[in-house]
Amino acid sequence: MSGVTVRVPAKVNIQLAVGGARPDGFHDLANVFLAVSLYDEVTVRPAERLTITCEGAGAAKVPLDESNLAARAALLLAERHGIAPDVHIHIAKAIPVAGGMAGGSADGAGALLACDTLWGLGSSQAQLLELCAVLGSDVPFSLAGGAALGTGRGERLTPLPVGGDFHWVFAVADGGLSTPAVYGEFDRLHAGARVPAPRASEPLLDALGAGDAAALGAALVNDLQPAALSLRPSLAATLDAGLAGGALAALVSGSGPTTAFLAKSAEAAAEVAGALDASGTCLATHVATSPAPGATVL
Ligand code: C5P
Repeated sequence: MSGVTVRVPAKVNIQLAVGGARPDGFHDLANVFLAVSLYDEVTVRPAERLTITCEGAGAAKVPLDESNLAARAALLLAERHGIAPDVHIHIAKAIPVAGGMAGGSADGAGALLACDTLWGLGSSQAQLLELCAVLGSDVPFSLAGGAALGTGRGERLTPLPVGGDFHWVFAVADGGLSTPAVYGEFDRLHAGARVPAPRASEPLLDALGAGDAAALGAALVNDLQPAALSLRPSLAATLDAGLAGGALAALVSGSGPTTAFLAKSAEAAAEVAGALDASGTCLATHVATSPAPGATVL
């Protein structure tokens, strides 16, 4: 076999309810993930030793050493099976780098599935999900796709029904935001306050299950948004520009700085993207639909 390519979706958090900091430094979450049709592709081939290359938007910012989640995935799987991790990993990036859309997690999930296939290991989905949780909080969802409620630190998934397609626009910001820095700012903003235990929103789950975009727009919530805006105040102008362009709702995606805009139709999404592009408040826009499938061997 010469190589295996896996396609992996980005995610948007349609609800990100964040609890207080835990003793291990993580935060308990009620995290409603939705996979969107914006994909990275991860290709693995036999090689003399583990190497990585990356192409696409933001590729220059992607680490090509063992801090890359794709490399860590290959190392973890090889270690579990007592084999040498001798592969070349090539990542074709479309998901914004350090953008709050789980691009790094997607590459980790993609490399895991690609290596499992290349090496003929035949791991079950449950075995792969367990390894994904070792790699990072968002990696299990990148493998699973669709829609899911993530609890714990976000890694314990319950699949959710989705009643129809939703149309999104994503505005890419100049530069990234560090996830730990955004959680740190969340802690700073809540210092001394009692943070309630995170709970999934019933109106949001109902809207998702019904495929009702207007109701979903009214229920979108991201507890990390004030922290992301505090670190990057210019995102407020991007959110305003998308709403002025006709979006049903706007929010920061995950820990940001990508912003997400829900539109009522594909046509409306194209108009929102045009308004954002003309506003000069973002670097680029992507139109996408959800739900999208999880990591898939091409
Ligand atoms: O799990 P992952 O490596 O993606 O997490 C990156 C960082 O984000 C963690 O080191 C932590 O600072 C923060 N985080 C958190 N609570 C979560 C998930 C992530 O505080 N539930």
